[in-house]
Amino acid sequence: MMMNKKRPPVVFLPCVRVSVVVFLVLVCFKPSLGDQKLRFGRDGEFKILQVADMHYADGKTTPCEDVLPTQVAGCSDLNTTAFVNRMILAEKPDLIVFTGDNIFGFDATDAAKSLNAAFAPAIASNIPWVAVLGNHDQESTLSREGVMKHIVTLKNTLSQVNPPEAHIIDGFGNYNLEIGGVEGSSFKNKSVLNLYFLDSGDYSTVPAIGGYGWIKPSQQLWFERTSAKLRREYMSKPAAQKAPAPGLAYFHIPLPEFASFDSSNFTGVKQEGISSASVNSGFFTTMVAAGDVKAVFTGHDHVNDFCGQLTGIQLCYAGGFGYHAYGKAGWERRARVVVASLEKLEKGGWGAVKSIKTWKRLDDAHLTAVDGQVLWSKSSSGRFLLYDICHSLAQRFLSCPRN
Ligand SMILES: *[C@@H]1O[C@H](CO)[C@@H](O)[C@H](O)[C@H]1NC(C)=O
Ligand SMILES: *[C@@H]1O[C@H](CO)[C@@H](O)[C@H](O)[C@H]1NC(C)=O
Ligand SMILES: *[C@@H]1O[C@H](CO)[C@@H](O)[C@H](O)[C@H]1NC(C)=O
Repeated sequence: MMMNKKRPPVVFLPCVRVSVVVFLVLVCFKPSLGDQKLRFGRDGEFKILQVADMHYADGKTTPCEDVLPTQVAGCSDLNTTAFVNRMILAEKPDLIVFTGDNIFGFDATDAAKSLNAAFAPAIASNIPWVAVLGNHDQESTLSREGVMKHIVTLKNTLSQVNPPEAHIIDGFGNYNLEIGGVEGSSFKNKSVLNLYFLDSGDYSTVPAIGGYGWIKPSQQLWFERTSAKLRREYMSKPAAQKAPAPGLAYFHIPLPEFASFDSSNFTGVKQEGISSASVNSGFFTTMVAAGDVKAVFTGHDHVNDFCGQLTGIQLCYAGGFGYHAYGKAGWERRARVVVASLEKLEKGGWGAVKSIKTWKRLDDAHLTAVDGQVLWSKSSSGRFLLYDICHSLAQRFLSCPRN
């Protein structure tokens, strides 16, 4: 309808108000987190909770494995759910990452229902979350593609089936996330922390090669291109940086290089072998060459929970999380937390990522935090490391020397 020019302007005010309200509704209540950029908060930290191997099946009727005889009664998938809820409450992460074997397909009657139940605490928390696939996710009523396509429809997830820019890529659930600098800082428009998520497959499909799957050349090419693009952006104006922003990679099956350590050079425990693929597809070398990834986080081997550093990259397990998964009776289910902290600038603002720390929490009465360590820091002085561990980590498990 044409507006009547003779009307006094005051008559138009309600219309203006209505359109402002409509605009605000559109802006404030977006149906998904899809285009909402993740960024560091005003505390200069970004925290990631890793949940590995939930092995969720049918819920209340699915029993726990490898718990003490006294813990068998009344133990089910619901204990896994309770643990996710406790971790979210305790850590209030900025992102939750599920690194595969989210469901244990063999025992899940309906894959979609099982996935919905497994991710329910993350969905309800309103915290952005993502998932990649393990080797058991497709063993129920959905294929790997079907599982990933279902996951991306769930609320609050930033997971993607595959990157739109890669025309051909193996697997389902390869994507990356850029974590922006603090709003109002000179890093506002930069991705200061890069997260890569990859599908490490399930089992070899090459008849002459047995065992688990591996990260294929097509996925490595996508990683290389993405890493190079992010590096270019980060190292160009405005606020051009001298080195690429640190990256973290999450997937399910450990790389063969996880076997490079013993207790003299890792933090955590190794209580079983490294169940990587029987061939080395070279992804570790690809990451070393790209130069940005500082740490890799996997699951798959439930009773290994260590981090060890090789050629500048920390290789970390989360340790098993789910109760319907093999484990070790009396050895608590656990989860890994990673916090990236920004450099505080002299002027008072926030700069680039200064350090990346990690610890784990056990599903005991106190959610005991263990194995706090600095995974990477911009400064390499030992004094910084000691100071940092003691004054920034969950202090309950370390008694700090006075400095
Ligand atoms: C599982 O959950 C039940 C109900 O909350 C609880 O009583 C039991 O101790 C839990 N079991 C384990 C092993 O955490
Ligand atoms: C970020 O990008 C916006 C839009 O392009 C621009 O207006 C703003 O000045 C940029 N801020 C910084 C700190 O680079
Ligand atoms: C860890 O230490 C063992 C010897 O105890 C050595 O064989 C191995 O190469 C070391 N690994 C790394 C990555 O330094």
